[in-house]
Amino acid sequence: MNEHPHASARADDPWTSQAVLADLGTACIGSELHLYAGATSTNDLAIQHGMSGGREGAIFLAETQSAGRGRSGRVWHSPPGCAIYCSILLLPGAQSGNPGPFSLLAGGALAEGISACGPFPVRVKWPNDLMLDGRKVGGILCELAQGTEGGRFLVLGFGINVRPPPSGWPAEIASRAAALVDAGRPWAPRAAILRACLRRLDHWYARYHAGEVGAICDLWRRYSATLGQQVEVVCGSQRLRGVARDIDMDGAMLIETADGKTERILTGDVESLQMTEPT
Ligand code: BTN
Repeated sequence: MNEHPHASARADDPWTSQAVLADLGTACIGSELHLYAGATSTNDLAIQHGMSGGREGAIFLAETQSAGRGRSGRVWHSPPGCAIYCSILLLPGAQSGNPGPFSLLAGGALAEGISACGPFPVRVKWPNDLMLDGRKVGGILCELAQGTEGGRFLVLGFGINVRPPPSGWPAEIASRAAALVDAGRPWAPRAAILRACLRRLDHWYARYHAGEVGAICDLWRRYSATLGQQVEVVCGSQRLRGVARDIDMDGAMLIETADGKTERILTGDVESLQMTEPT
């Protein structure tokens, strides 16, 4: 366990290994905890440890990231003291290719964990944006890496905006980003939110190993903000419009287009989405 004290700790938001691990009670996730004041990216920390044979379930936290990254090479704004930046070393021996069912697991489990902490009805926008009231409160980045001894492993990285940054959101994301504890919603310490998420991840990780992929898809469907919606998916220079009908076990979204065909989309961003109750 590494403990690196930092200047931004608040009495009502303790951010220490003890606060995170208190009564965690997980089987695998949290086998080790490494908490840093700063990092380039917690995914980098997890990858470095994974390459030298780090333990399955090891967690890497940083108070701030200087090069936090999101999907498709985007920057993940990572100011100190107001958010969770977490990466977990998982799936030793992972196969190459798309970590599809695993990324469904992550989105569903995090939405379930956050929702258990208060009036935070978080939903997942395909593929894996955590949304609250139509704005993004969190994101997930799964990366496969190759260990030095030939074995692959997966790093599950996620960021959750718990409070708005003291200096405000950068202009380019101000209209889309949000924090859980904002707009009159009650206070919740980061450690409590993270613990709830880690417990649900641990639960679903065991079920993943038990081969319960169908149950994982159902979990994702339960928290989906996308299914039943009229969507436009952007993948590189390609755009596709239709109704998001379902996901499959690879995490692909099944879109029914105007001509009645079903298209299977494995990567991309849902760009225009009417945020109404799914039908
Ligand atoms: C996205 O929505 O594009 C994914 C964002 C993932 C951000 C998290 S923060 C912790 C971990 N470290 C990173 O550099 N990225 C992930």
